[in-house]
Amino acid sequence: MKTLLVTGGAGFIGSCFVLQRIAAGDKVINLDKLTYSGNLMNLKDVESNPNYVFIHGDIGDEKLLRKVLPEYQPDAVVNFAAESHVDRSIVDPDSFVRTNVMGTSILLRCVKDWWNTLEAEKKSAFRFHHISTDEVFGTLSMTDPAFTEETKFAPNSPYSASKASSDHFVRAFHETYGLPTVITNCSNNYGPRQFPEKLIPLMIANALNDKPLPVYGEGLNVRDWLYVEDHCKAIDLIIHNGRVGEVYNVGGHNEKTNIEIVKIICKELGKPESLITHVADRKGHDMRYAIDPTKIHNELGWLPETKFEDGIKKTIKWYLENKEWWETIISGEYQNYYEKMYAHREEI
Ligand code: NAD
Ligand code: DAU
Repeated sequence: MKTLLVTGGAGFIGSCFVLQRIAAGDKVINLDKLTYSGNLMNLKDVESNPNYVFIHGDIGDEKLLRKVLPEYQPDAVVNFAAESHVDRSIVDPDSFVRTNVMGTSILLRCVKDWWNTLEAEKKSAFRFHHISTDEVFGTLSMTDPAFTEETKFAPNSPYSASKASSDHFVRAFHETYGLPTVITNCSNNYGPRQFPEKLIPLMIANALNDKPLPVYGEGLNVRDWLYVEDHCKAIDLIIHNGRVGEVYNVGGHNEKTNIEIVKIICKELGKPESLITHVADRKGHDMRYAIDPTKIHNELGWLPETKFEDGIKKTIKWYLENKEWWETIISGEYQNYYEKMYAHREEI
């Protein structure tokens, strides 16, 4: 059994990881600021589990971190906490700098100071696992080879620039202070509990409400989709067996255009494709992401287990069975967000 300090565990991927680790018998301390995308409903199944502790807090809160780390003595810190949506970063880059850059740097510094007080054995067994994204590598043409761990960083959005910066800070803390860090750069996740600002849950919710399905531009941009549970299994494997100081790319071998995804959702829900509306493109829209996961496969034997055809069915089923979850979200502050992002978006 391990004790894990998970940050951002009330969000989409973090909550999946927390649920998996609690089911496996680990102890999880979940430190989350509960921004608009953090939702304690995601963790209701474990809220009274004795191995689960929730702390409402910010990764940039030094005082809180200096209390929590010695109190819980984690074997690993797993940093999911971030501002995660590209479209929001285009409107408000500063909040991405605050959490993704400053927050990660403060978290690293507090973890490093506490880690330095540990005895040698615990010190070398400790891990700081940073969750990052394939977007740090920029964009690919349709014929480029997929991103490897050696691909040069070329972030194009304020979101990816802030994540790239956080990755550099993690690397620097390993090189400068010897903190045992690992970074994973993952492709697009999908699955239950994803906030309905992202492509797949937004299209599911709109389709179920017979609302237009706003596809940016021609919808020919490509993403490499990975089922969230497979991502979380990769993280656990790396915490146990990954090499310190390394970076691992995690991806689904599953490239699809956005329009393909939206058409699959229409088909699965029995909704007409006439709901699809082509709207003005995202500024600086990356054309294609694709991950080459050879390193994690060769070193650790990881492969995605969930075929897209099955994963998307499971995802849609979850949104059908958990209408209250997403209806509560879209009836609140989300309406202002939607209005701001979509109401004045030109149809093309
Ligand atoms: P999310 O927006 O659903 O969740 C983010 C969580 O972090 C929320 O619970 C939020 O309350 C919390 N949070 C935000 N700021 C915080 C702060 N300052 N202190 C503490 N908690 C804070 O995001 P997600 O999709 O679950 O992404 C999680 C991580 O995975 C992010 O680091 C993201 O960059 C990375 N990632 C996401 C994807 C994807 O497809 N969603 C793919 C690759 C990597
Ligand atoms: O690649 C990993 C990244 O994937 C993560 O790091 C990010 O946190 C995560 O948000 C995601 O970023 P994307 O920008 O790829 O995801 P999003 O769901 O916002 O968009 C997927 C594609 O769909 C993208 O090409 C834009 C398009 N899109 C999105 C929305 C919300 C639309 O066409 N219409 C929409 O309404």
